[in-house]
Amino acid sequence: MPTKQSTRIPVVCALGRFPEFVDWLRQRIDADRYFSRRVEATIVTDKQERDAALPTAEVYTTFRFSPDQFRLCKNLKWLHLGMAGADSALFPAFKRSRVMLTSSVGLHDDTVPNAAMGFLLSFATGLHQGYAQKNAGEWNRKEIVLNRRQLAGQRLVVIGTGRIGQRIGRLARSHGMEVWGVRRSRSLQRLPGFDKIVPTRSLRKALETADFVVLAVPGIPATRDLIGAKELRAMKSTAYLINIARGSVVNEKALITAVTRGHIAGAGLDVFAQEPLPTNHPFYRLPNVAMTPHTSGDTVDYSFRAVEMFLKNLRRYCQGKELFNVVDKKRGY
Ligand SMILES: NC(=O)c1ccc[n+]([C@@H]2O[C@H](COP(=O)([O-])OP(=O)(O)OC[C@H]3O[C@@H](n4cnc5c(N)ncnc54)[C@H](OP(=O)(O)O)[C@@H]3O)[C@@H](O)[C@H]2O)c1
Repeated sequence: MPTKQSTRIPVVCALGRFPEFVDWLRQRIDADRYFSRRVEATIVTDKQERDAALPTAEVYTTFRFSPDQFRLCKNLKWLHLGMAGADSALFPAFKRSRVMLTSSVGLHDDTVPNAAMGFLLSFATGLHQGYAQKNAGEWNRKEIVLNRRQLAGQRLVVIGTGRIGQRIGRLARSHGMEVWGVRRSRSLQRLPGFDKIVPTRSLRKALETADFVVLAVPGIPATRDLIGAKELRAMKSTAYLINIARGSVVNEKALITAVTRGHIAGAGLDVFAQEPLPTNHPFYRLPNVAMTPHTSGDTVDYSFRAVEMFLKNLRRYCQGKELFNVVDKKRGY
């Protein structure tokens, strides 16, 4: 429950550092009569400002949370993350606490599926090879044509049938693909975007039949190394793996072996076990690995959109209403 209406709620926002954003947010809050009366907003732009503000914060919003930040919080009742994945906050002390946790699930329903489809279309059309040839000043039709394929009739297996997975399914079906979804819960009822839903225990069977596999699950202990050597060996040698979820979901050592030895055709990766990916990492040198530096969910206006979502929930918090996007700390998403 929020602090009584007579005192203003100390809110700390660390969702953006660039001056245009800070000015915009300051004006956005001051111009809103509702917030200007109820909220004492501190917009922090560096670690020093943040650490000074955290002890009194009742509400805190940031992209990534950590045990160090939590140790400073003496008054925290609600943490809102500007990301969809809540993994950075799921450490034991925070999970045990009574602090409410919300995430920005829903903010990526357009961008992340488009990024996943970008990888998929690139592999089907040879676009990534075209870029490499252009950079090298080469003209090699054969290299590209031998990898090109029609999407109609190909099977996509999406692991994780949440908001992002469903949207990927819808986009893939619009290309004539057959889409299977793999989900954790027992309910296997039809979901929009999927021709068939299978449970996680049938993952290996689903992988055997896939032409493309997209990972869209949260990075939680239950999904750590969900795709390891056995799963990669189960896939067709012509199949591609696309990971827009979290690096922890794939065993990277096993993936390097699989793409190097041709157990699978290639991989599209936006997320990695270690970020930034060290410059000497083998992924940089593998021609059948396409990569983006964890940008799938981002856009030029991301901080603004993240704040608008937070403010919607902040209004509900001030009104004592139930928050949306509440994370089940035990389940992890
Ligand atoms: N690359 C990026 O920039 C970026 C941006 C946004 C999100 N993401 C990642 O994408 C994830 C999904 O986002 P979302 O918005 O779609 O979340 P969501 O709506 O909460 O969906 C999560 C889905 O994962 C499924 N799941 C959980 N554990 C599973 C398991 N062990 N096996 C199979 N399925 C499992 C859930 O199954 P049930 O339905 O059965 O519970 C649910 O369908 C996020 O958690 C985040 O890690 C990445």
